[in-house]
Amino acid sequence: MKEKILISWLGRNEIDFAYSHPTAVKPFGPITSALNEMNFDHVYLLSSFNQELIARFTSCLKNLSCPNPLITEAELSSPMNFEQIYKATVNICSLVNSKHPEAALIYLISSGTSAMAAVIILIARTLYPGEIIQTSAEHGVNGVSIPFDISVDYVPRLFENADARISANASATVPGFAEFSSVIHRSEEMVSAIRMAKKAAIRSIPILLEGESGTGKELFARAIHKASLKRSNPFIVVNCGAIPQNLVEAELYGYVKGSFTGAYRTKIGVIEAANGGTVFFDEISELPFEQQVKLLRAVQEKTIRKIGSTTDVSVDFRIIAASNKNLIIEVNKGRFREDLFYRLAVAVIKLPPLRERQGDVSLLAKHFLDEINKEHSESMAFKKKTLTPAALQLLYSYTWPGNVRELINTLQRAVLWSESENISKEQIESSILSTNNLQKLRSDQVKHEMLNHTFSMKDEILKDVRNWISIALDLSGGSKKEASQMLGMNNYQTLTNWMKRVDTT
Ligand SMILES: Nc1ncnc2c1ncn2[C@@H]1O[C@H](COP(=O)(O)OP(=O)(O)OP(=O)(O)O)[C@@H](O)[C@H]1O
Ligand SMILES: [Mg+2]
Repeated sequence: MKEKILISWLGRNEIDFAYSHPTAVKPFGPITSALNEMNFDHVYLLSSFNQELIARFTSCLKNLSCPNPLITEAELSSPMNFEQIYKATVNICSLVNSKHPEAALIYLISSGTSAMAAVIILIARTLYPGEIIQTSAEHGVNGVSIPFDISVDYVPRLFENADARISANASATVPGFAEFSSVIHRSEEMVSAIRMAKKAAIRSIPILLEGESGTGKELFARAIHKASLKRSNPFIVVNCGAIPQNLVEAELYGYVKGSFTGAYRTKIGVIEAANGGTVFFDEISELPFEQQVKLLRAVQEKTIRKIGSTTDVSVDFRIIAASNKNLIIEVNKGRFREDLFYRLAVAVIKLPPLRERQGDVSLLAKHFLDEINKEHSESMAFKKKTLTPAALQLLYSYTWPGNVRELINTLQRAVLWSESENISKEQIESSILSTNNLQKLRSDQVKHEMLNHTFSMKDEILKDVRNWISIALDLSGGSKKEASQMLGMNNYQTLTNWMKRVDTT
């Protein structure tokens, strides 16, 4: 059985009644009625009244044999000051959540001002989910049904455009989460991506992580899970690109014994296995189209059905999806369902490519080099490595199409090859060139630019032309006549024209 915890503000009426009827033997207001009718393991009350009034109230509770409440004093300049009420309520909820992470929270909204009730509803439907109750003289204690879901109906609109609202939102202060300390960064771009991730983490909303390969999408997904209320439950990774299409359904939802040849026993799928936790759908764009509608249903209704079963099972899970393709382009091309896209893209966090993160390369390089040095420190022959200034310079100027992963691999290779303590520029160069088929990387980059509509065929051609001209001029020792012949041109005037065009003159 989960512990039950009551959270409420203390209202003026109840306090006044306790003051004028110190020997009351019957419940006389919302809190006393709730305590009388329901059993709670702990009671947390917020109050803006003085000690004397509070003491009268608690002694009445004793007369009524109610549990001893923990009363926190909140300084309010007015009982309708939303900002102060919000801060005080969030603080108490955060305290309760850290002391009793597994407990069921029950919020009473009948005590206190309408501002207090509004704030409680907001918090109970977003940051610290829980049941909302009210009390009345006629009907006693009742659950309150809130026929809308703030996190789904309101938050998506907030995140709809990367507009000023989001930037303002993203720059507001948020509590620190140690879970994100694994994300090494210094750039403003990453600071704001982490801020958004922290904010989204504490709500149960779906998150879409977009970013090139190696930018840290999985690292983020794990940190988000760790910083969420689901942290003590499983985190399961589904790599949509790695599951054969005909096995996706069995993998996600499971199957019952005998439902197909080879189904020798009933098996639960990954979504059910992650119950209470997070499922990370990596490479979501690779999910077969017909499976996308099934996933939409699972996310929307929080139920799944095993293959061969006739009943639905309810599952509570948070979905985080990642893609290194721009999903909205996939939607426009008809390859990804629009309805699923909007369901997943409630909070969209874009991880910038490494080349756009000012100041991160040096920090990351130092961090990983330290790690690699540590790993090798046991071996007798190993000499601790450092990067020469020229090598560092190359790390800064390289474009890192494979992002952080490529940086790690490059450093690992360079350490293996360098025999002295210094890693030279040439060693970094050959570490980059050796395993990375540059042409493949370039074609990946071209694909990416095309999908993002940032590709210019004209610029690419001009880049090549510039390159050929410079090779020919090098070979000809600067003679335009000879260079033009090497380039297959009829006369050097043609070369001059081309040089003007590509601006090499
Ligand atoms: N900011 C960072 N700080 C420390 N390590 C990082 C950072 N970003 C990425 N890494 C590391 O780089 C590697 C690649 O990161 P990750 O697997 O999260 O990238 P990804 O975006 O999921 O890539 P892919 O799209 O190729 O799957 C991992 O080893 C991860 O721990
Ligand atoms: Mg990944």
